[in-house]
Amino acid sequence: MLGPRKSIERLSHRESGHSLAKTLSWPHLIALGVGAIVGTGIYTLTGVGAERAGPAVILAFAIAGAVCACAALAYAEMATLIPAAGSAYTFSYAAMGETVAWVVGWSLILEYSLACSTVAVGWSGYLVGWIEAVGIHLPHVLLVGPHGGGIVNLPAVVIALGVMGMLIAGTRESATLNIILVIIKLAALSVFVIIALPAFQTGNLHPFMPYGFGSTEIAGHKRGVMAAAAIVFFAFYGFDAVATSAEEAKNPGRDLTIGIVGSMVVCTLIYMAVAVTAIGALPFQQLANSPEPLALVLRSLNQPMAAYLIALAAVIALPSVILVMMYGQSRVFFVMARDGLLPRSLAKISPRTGAPTRITLMTGISIAVVAGIFRLDEIAELANAGTLIAFMAVGACLMILRRRSPDLPRLFRCPQPMVVGTLTIAGCAYLLFSLPASTLTRFGLWNLIGLAFYGLYGRLSSEAGRERAAEKADAGA
Ligand code: ALA
Repeated sequence: MLGPRKSIERLSHRESGHSLAKTLSWPHLIALGVGAIVGTGIYTLTGVGAERAGPAVILAFAIAGAVCACAALAYAEMATLIPAAGSAYTFSYAAMGETVAWVVGWSLILEYSLACSTVAVGWSGYLVGWIEAVGIHLPHVLLVGPHGGGIVNLPAVVIALGVMGMLIAGTRESATLNIILVIIKLAALSVFVIIALPAFQTGNLHPFMPYGFGSTEIAGHKRGVMAAAAIVFFAFYGFDAVATSAEEAKNPGRDLTIGIVGSMVVCTLIYMAVAVTAIGALPFQQLANSPEPLALVLRSLNQPMAAYLIALAAVIALPSVILVMMYGQSRVFFVMARDGLLPRSLAKISPRTGAPTRITLMTGISIAVVAGIFRLDEIAELANAGTLIAFMAVGACLMILRRRSPDLPRLFRCPQPMVVGTLTIAGCAYLLFSLPASTLTRFGLWNLIGLAFYGLYGRLSSEAGRERAAEKADAGA
């Protein structure tokens, strides 16, 4: 019922036949992780989180970070055990069979594409604040979708299509550019903390949890620390970028552990510092739903130059997060098409650039449309639902493969796998059910469409299913 499984030995073998050069050590991996992780989550969703939890958004960051750290440990073991493209989708194919792999892959498509839309909308918020600071005013109807009384968020559409164009032209973020962008992002956040922390007022922290801990519906909106954790969770993902570089690590056992866990710890500490600073500087009600909360704090503290610079840093650095995510999206699509679960023609690679042009064009346009029309928090929440399913699957894969194949060589062994796996699944499930009911309904619909497609197409045309049928026929002959 769960469909055929892929053999781990063959997956590892296929990849080792085309090995990449081993050039990365843990500092590179931390830079890669932080580069992929830090983005709209901290730059923009801090405000949305404050609206949902009040000052306890600080706690929400800690909870989301702790759940992600468990998922990251599970990812590290799985990525070194199965160093093949497709991450959670491929692990699930090996551990739990094709049907679960399909659901995970379908969820990853949602994660990556909606994460791109979210970052595009976050980018637009900072761009607009920045150009207004230099005296350029665009018509409101072109800056926000219908939900805000406008027509379309044009800057978000433009950046999504711009990044799509770069990917189609074969652009990859170089390691050097990544380091430069990481430095810009972190320098801006450090400057924010240094300038705004002296304005800290303990009074802004009271009451700390105005809406309580659990996620509850208050006046038609989800409120509470868990409601905030379920949205600021967005700020943490992207660390799978590190897991997917397993093949290129010089000493995967050590470098990957430090790279993945290190980037999570670094990001959690930075996020908590930024959240404490923002909440301490301004009553949380003022941060709520600002499209550029960090710049707003600095302007309120009479630091227009610093506000201008932080917006500039966001405008320069956030597109790289879109690039990484859109690239990840095309990889997942590509692997699913190669496995025969999606039409193979979609995975056609352009001989000139080596990029899967059709897939990139299709996803880039969908990402731009969503970014142009929908609200930031709605998109981020749906992206989170997809990611949470993928993380739960990785936690399950970790435990299943430890039981089923305890002797496979593991470059990185997750400590206490049963505890970490259980915490990953339980933590992600708690976050998932803390999302608004409307998000869960949309997510359910997305999966129904996916399962219908799988039943009518993928199950019949999948490579693994065909191989299994051929083996059975041979055995019977
Ligand atoms: N973690 C990434 C961000 O916050 C997706 O933008």
